[in-house]
Amino acid sequence: MADVSDITKEAETLNIEDEGSDSEEEVKSNRHQRQKKQNQTAKGKSVSKKKEKELAKEKDLRESTMRAFNTYFEAIYGQERWPKLLEALQKPGRHCCLVNRFCSEEATQATISQFPALERLDYISIPAFISSERFPQPPKDEKGVCMYYPLDAASLLAVDALDLKPNHSVLDICAAPGGKTLAIMQHLTSMGSTLTSNEIAPDRKRRLKQVVWDYVPKGKERDRIIVTSRDGTHWEEEERYDRVLVDAPCSSERHLLKDMTEFLKWTPKKTGNASKEQLKILKSAIMAVRVNGLVVYGTCSISTKENDDVIEKILKKSKINIEVMRREWAIGERTKYGWIVLPDDGHGWGPLFFTILKRLPDDDDSNSEESQTESDED
Ligand SMILES: C[S@@+](CC[C@H](N)C(=O)[O-])C[C@H]1O[C@@H](n2cnc3c(N)ncnc32)[C@H](O)[C@@H]1O
Repeated sequence: MADVSDITKEAETLNIEDEGSDSEEEVKSNRHQRQKKQNQTAKGKSVSKKKEKELAKEKDLRESTMRAFNTYFEAIYGQERWPKLLEALQKPGRHCCLVNRFCSEEATQATISQFPALERLDYISIPAFISSERFPQPPKDEKGVCMYYPLDAASLLAVDALDLKPNHSVLDICAAPGGKTLAIMQHLTSMGSTLTSNEIAPDRKRRLKQVVWDYVPKGKERDRIIVTSRDGTHWEEEERYDRVLVDAPCSSERHLLKDMTEFLKWTPKKTGNASKEQLKILKSAIMAVRVNGLVVYGTCSISTKENDDVIEKILKKSKINIEVMRREWAIGERTKYGWIVLPDDGHGWGPLFFTILKRLPDDDDSNSEESQTESDED
C-alpha cells in the first residue's frame, strides 16, 4: 500500500499536468480524473492512517508482551542468566535424528554417513546422530520404511528416563506428532511388548498414525502399537502399564518466540492455565501405571509453574503413593524435583524438563508381593 507522502506527490503531479489542457472535453475529463484521484487520495490517507494506527497498536502490544515475558522469566532465571537464555531460545535449533531400527541398517548407514559433521550422540541409549545441517525429508528403504526421524536430542533423554525394558507395556498419553512414540518403539524389542499412543486432537492423531505407518513395518511390529484419541485427563484404565510418558501440552516458549502471532497471546495467566491441564493428565497417568512402574512427566516449557510446581502439587495431592526418582544426565541441570535441558549452556538443545515418578504400593500393601522392586520382576 502507498504511504501518505506517495499519494500526496501523485496528486501534485496531476495538478501540474492539468495546466496544459485546452479542449472542453479534455478539461472535463481532467476534472473527472482529478476528482477521482482526490477521492482516492483521501481514501488512501484514511486507509494509511488506519494502517498506521494498527501498526502502532501492534508495536505497543509486542513491546508490552515482551516486557511482561522478560519480567516473568527474569524472576525465575535471574537478571544475569535470563538475557543469555532468551538469546539462546531465539537461535535456530540444532539438528539431531534417531535412526529407525525397523529400517534396513545398511541402507540407513549409507544415507546418513553422507551428512556433514555427522556424530553419534554417545549419551543417548538408542542410535541418534547430530549433523551441522538440517536432516532432509527421510528416504525410505526398499520395504517403504523411513530411515530416520529428526527431533531434539533432549527429547531422547526424556525417553531414556522411562528406563524401558524390551517387554514393557507403555502408554504415551500425549503422543502426536510421534517423535517420542518412535523412540519408545526403538526400545520395545520383545514381541510381548505393547505401546498405546494417544492424542486428543483428531488432525494431530492422523499425523501420529501416519508417522507410525511410515516408520513401523506392517504386521507383527505395527500390531503392537495402538493409536487412540482419548482425553488424557480422564484415562479410564487403572494400573495397566509398566511405563507412562506424559509429554504434556505446554506453553512451549521457544516456539512462541518464533511465531509473533502466537507470542502476542502470551500472558502469565496462560502458563497457570496450562499447569491445571498438565496436573489433570499427570493424575490420570499415575492411575494408569502399575505399582512399581514409572511415569515420566515432561514439558518443553521453561516455566516453573508447568514443571516443578506441577510435580509439587501432585506430590501433595495424590492419593496414590508416589516418589520422585532422581537421576543425573549428560546434559542439563537439576531442578527441585526433576531435570531441565536449557539451550544456553553450550549444547543448544532443549528446552526440556522432565521428572521421573515411581508408583509405590498402597500403604496397606507394603508387605505384599506387588511391592517387590521391579528389578526382581524383570
Ligand atoms: C508436547 S505435544 C506431544 C509431542 C509428542 N510427544 C512428540 O514427541 O512428538 C503435546 C500433545 O498433547 C496433546 N494433548 C493436549 N491435551 C491433551 C489431552 N487432554 N489428552 C491427550 N492429548 C492431549 C496435544 O494436542 C499435543 O499434540
